[in-house]
Amino acid sequence: MRSRVSEFFRQHAFPLSLEGDSDFKGAFHSEMEAGLRGENSSLAMLPTYIGVDKSIPSRRPVVVIDAGGTNLRVCKVTFDEFGEGQIDDFSKEAMPGTQGELSSAQFFEAIARKVKPILEKDASIETLGFCFSYPAEILPNRDGRLLFWTKEVRAPEVVGQCLGEQLLKKLDRPELRITVLNDTVATLLAGKAQGDVDRCSGYAGFILGTGMNTAVVENNGDITKVQHNDLAGEQVINMESGNFSRLSQSDFDKKLLQKTGDPDAYILEKMVSGAYLGPLFHEVLFSAVDDGLFGKEGCESIAALKDVSALELNSVLSHPFRENPFAELGEQDLGVVVELGEALVQRAARLSAFQLAAALCRRTSSSSRLHPICVNVDGSTIHKMKGYYVAFESQLKSLLEEKDIHVMLVHKEHSPILGSAIAALTN
Ligand code: BGC
Repeated sequence: MRSRVSEFFRQHAFPLSLEGDSDFKGAFHSEMEAGLRGENSSLAMLPTYIGVDKSIPSRRPVVVIDAGGTNLRVCKVTFDEFGEGQIDDFSKEAMPGTQGELSSAQFFEAIARKVKPILEKDASIETLGFCFSYPAEILPNRDGRLLFWTKEVRAPEVVGQCLGEQLLKKLDRPELRITVLNDTVATLLAGKAQGDVDRCSGYAGFILGTGMNTAVVENNGDITKVQHNDLAGEQVINMESGNFSRLSQSDFDKKLLQKTGDPDAYILEKMVSGAYLGPLFHEVLFSAVDDGLFGKEGCESIAALKDVSALELNSVLSHPFRENPFAELGEQDLGVVVELGEALVQRAARLSAFQLAAALCRRTSSSSRLHPICVNVDGSTIHKMKGYYVAFESQLKSLLEEKDIHVMLVHKEHSPILGSAIAALTN
């Protein structure tokens, strides 16, 4: 007999397992290919002009700016002759534009304020790596133009601006070289240091934190929307895979989408990532109250919740009886809350794995058990949310191994920072 919870999910068109791998893969591949050709597609497939075949120069300090979904981190990075990166002068604060709307001048001023003291302290620095966790068109000189904000950041004047140029103006240091790159691209590069040692055959970067995205390596010959100096070469592509849109939506997804800044954009990201899992859980709980899944007291206390964060979702899944807004519910209601939350995390992990598996099997892979594809997996949500990583890994491996594609999943600390330093020094 179906449990009440699975019946509830069925009625709201929320899948408890993902069938139709080939439908997903087919749709995903056709969006990837349209994106590479520059045709209308939910996968932007943004070129980076960054290759993966250079070695890292040692003892040359770089300033790294890591503008993430939640935090802005700034520091200095220097590699030693063994390729180990040393991080100094580290600072961290809230990402500008997440605590209220900013003008462009205020946005770049907030970053420049953190960069200036490092440049003043070390006059030998000539290079900056700017890790930017938002969709940007990268130009051949490796500056990047913001296409639009995601993750609800508010600094609308920055859209359309060249990030490197604006920052160097604020710093009043036009002679510095700056490389703008996406966080998934930096993550791929940081993983490569590890993958080289283990003789991997290919590379990818995957991030599942506040937002979600994937970087892969593509043949220049397939990226027909831009001109190439080296048609036979390869480069890293920022897929912006969180925007994949050919997905069926449950009632909860539809309700949440209507409450976001741009309801038609980043549909996949809004089903799987840290910025949205809490609000999505809130939608699920509210519908469960309406559908009578809780007792009277449970209904009252859940209906009184103004919002639910991803952290709270994690707390109730990890420690149902303490430090979470549901801890005082009766056993039965608490059990339902946990079952609903687990189903949400399981679906997110499956969808994340589906998109990564599809991205990795578009090109013929030369991977083997001995020479797998090295995937650097970064992001707070995938590593901290109870049950996420385990479900993601097992789903990914089962999808890939049946196609004889082999992956080595790594998690390198400070990947966006180290990868940005590598990009700035090698490209
Ligand atoms: C952004 C991507 C980014 C991802 C992970 C998304 O919201 O659009 O550019 O890579 O989040 O941080």
